[in-house]
Amino acid sequence: TPGTPPTPTETTVTDKYAFAFDIDGVLIRGGRPIPEAIEAMKMLNGENQYGIKVPYIFVTNGGGKTEQERCLQLSQQLEMEVSPGQFICGHTPMREMAEKFKTVLVVGGEGEKCRHVAEGYGFKDVVTPGDIIKDNQDTTPFRKLTDEEYKNSRLRNFGEVEIEAIFVFADSRDWASDQQIILDLLMSKNGRLGTRSEKFDEGPPVFFSHNDVVWSASHDLTRIGMGALRVSLEAMFKAVTGRDLETTAFGKPQIGTFEFATRLLQQWRKDTHDIDSPPDTVYFVGDTPESDIRGTNEFDKHAENSWYSILVHTGVFEEGTKPKYKPRATVDTVLDAVKHGIKLEY
Ligand code: G3P
Ligand code: MG
Repeated sequence: TPGTPPTPTETTVTDKYAFAFDIDGVLIRGGRPIPEAIEAMKMLNGENQYGIKVPYIFVTNGGGKTEQERCLQLSQQLEMEVSPGQFICGHTPMREMAEKFKTVLVVGGEGEKCRHVAEGYGFKDVVTPGDIIKDNQDTTPFRKLTDEEYKNSRLRNFGEVEIEAIFVFADSRDWASDQQIILDLLMSKNGRLGTRSEKFDEGPPVFFSHNDVVWSASHDLTRIGMGALRVSLEAMFKAVTGRDLETTAFGKPQIGTFEFATRLLQQWRKDTHDIDSPPDTVYFVGDTPESDIRGTNEFDKHAENSWYSILVHTGVFEEGTKPKYKPRATVDTVLDAVKHGIKLEY
């Protein structure tokens, strides 16, 4: 019918290769798009000399909101549609832990957001630091809840609650009080606040959604991230108890995250482009050698297809220094990375 926009046919989409993108320091910095990012996305959406569309996904260590909310935000920033079907954030794989633990402490993020994310993942009983301070305000001598925090926090008697696991979902907004509460739980008998274990070996396990010590925000220089909180917590536990603390991190560079990304990409290519076979090559574009490049290179050794790491200069990695993990290619911006991958294909 006249006036109907042409629908893309399968021949305009490549099944041979795909892209995966890190977000902070590659596409976004401090809530604003990196200028070349918009053109890079257009290129993958078919605005290239071959008129071909290239499937892609996003794999960020960031989080703090539901996947839907993050995608909506990214859609606005990049001026195109981003679907949760092509998006993984640091805490996405934590959903697989919801059956294992009943009562959990969720740390980090703004207001009640991370509680809602955790409940959306199916966690049955989610406690926040605010709930604990509301029950006993002496918990944190230098932090008083704001009126809003007090209103939103849930009142319960923590003398009767056993917290089975601690999940750091997003960056802590108050390191001192969050660490005090985590430390209290780690030193407790079976996660019961107000108790002290004799050997400090009965506390709940701690999980972090990623391990980036620094990340790329709006400041010119890198900012400390969740990995820094992890280091700090482990050192503090040692200083206070004399024991070593073992914690677990999800996100990149963990192989599990790349396996998750593989399944996501497979489903995404099937659902949107009707492609059944895996791509020969996945180009992974990142700014952090320790998580993006390390993870891609290590996964490349395990995977049946090729995972090709590309490092950009717009984020954590500083030009002129030697990256700790060597990328297959180094380029200036995400647009150069997309051009580089496409060029290798033809
Ligand atoms: O807090 C987020 C940051 O550590 C990394 O995000 O997108 O660079 O993986 P991203
Ligand atoms: Mg990054």
